[in-house]
Amino acid sequence: MKIPDWIPWALGAFRRPSRAGCAALLAAALVGCKPEGGATSAASGDTIPVGEFASLTGSEATFGQSSHNGTVLAIDEINAAGGVLGKKLALVTEDNQSKEGESQTAVKKLISRDKVVAVLGEVASGRSIEAAQTCQKYRIPQVSPSSTNPKVTEQGDHIFRVCFIDPFQGTVMAKFASGTLKARKVGLLVDVGAPYSVGLATFFKEGFVAGGGTVVAEQKFTKDDKDFKAQLTAIKAAGPDAVFVPAYYGQVTLIVMQARVLGLTVPFIGGDGWESPELVKGPGAKEALEGCYFSTHFSPDQATPQAKAFVAKYVAKHREKPDAMAALGYDSAQLLADAMRRAGSADPAKVRDALAATKDFDGVTGRMTLDASRNARKSAVILAIHNKRRQPQGFV
Ligand code: PHE
Repeated sequence: MKIPDWIPWALGAFRRPSRAGCAALLAAALVGCKPEGGATSAASGDTIPVGEFASLTGSEATFGQSSHNGTVLAIDEINAAGGVLGKKLALVTEDNQSKEGESQTAVKKLISRDKVVAVLGEVASGRSIEAAQTCQKYRIPQVSPSSTNPKVTEQGDHIFRVCFIDPFQGTVMAKFASGTLKARKVGLLVDVGAPYSVGLATFFKEGFVAGGGTVVAEQKFTKDDKDFKAQLTAIKAAGPDAVFVPAYYGQVTLIVMQARVLGLTVPFIGGDGWESPELVKGPGAKEALEGCYFSTHFSPDQATPQAKAFVAKYVAKHREKPDAMAALGYDSAQLLADAMRRAGSADPAKVRDALAATKDFDGVTGRMTLDASRNARKSAVILAIHNKRRQPQGFV
């Protein structure tokens, strides 16, 4: 996979901040390095330090890169318009390399070294849960852009998100499977090491069975698996009308391609974990995934003024359309800035209270109100892979 230009310096600068790297970066935007003056607090510094942890490299790199691009776009825009409370936001980003255990370390650094007043991140639920335990302990508000497992915000009253949650997403796809695809029997293939996958599989199953359907096969895998033939053979033998795979994109492509080789031709369906340009890259991937569907948070074809303006700005900067993670990364930073303005302060306790009071915030991914569990009430979009392209199938 092509590593974007900013990655090499980003890794150098994030891990071992060099004076030259930071200076060049600060000239471009107040993003990515230690805020000037080192570990200042919001009250005493001339910038407001905001932390971000993301999977910029590793198995879900496109999640972190997209989300980071959206976050940076928002921070740049906020700063260009004068910042918040008369100060510029200084984003400090840590890469967790898509690895277990790294998010906690990253967030501890952001809180104790960089004295961030709030943390943005992550995409994958497992890594957001990890970081949330630390943010909650230190009473630093965390806003996850796109982690959908209910356990994320259950870590405590300082943890928020700007996306919907998996009980909703699972039900949406269960109804789609029975209502639109007319599936009566489904197979499930679950990554048992990922809280996201296990949770979404459970919610899908509950919805599908409640609607009168049957789960005829349930098979497991883990993060590093590359050969799914045994599981797919068992699923094929059970004769499903569709197969639900609540997994992350890297393995989804392999799974569906191997299924086609085995003659399992039914539609595969999934959730937002499928969202990546990598999903249909590589020889044969587009053909294998033709007629498959997944639910997600945003489509660049959405017609609201906020979505249109965001897509235009993103395309002008990155020469490609934004995906859901980019849109949610943007919304997470904008919501945080909005909460600071409403709080009239960057003090973490006050920002927390303002975040909790969020009502009718117009994001690019839709209008959101945070409920008592600090989750956003939102709608979902179902995308079809049709004529080798992703096409919106409907909004739910
Ligand atoms: N919702 C997924 C999770 O919680 C992550 C994700 C979000 C993936 C948005 C793609 C798009 O792990």
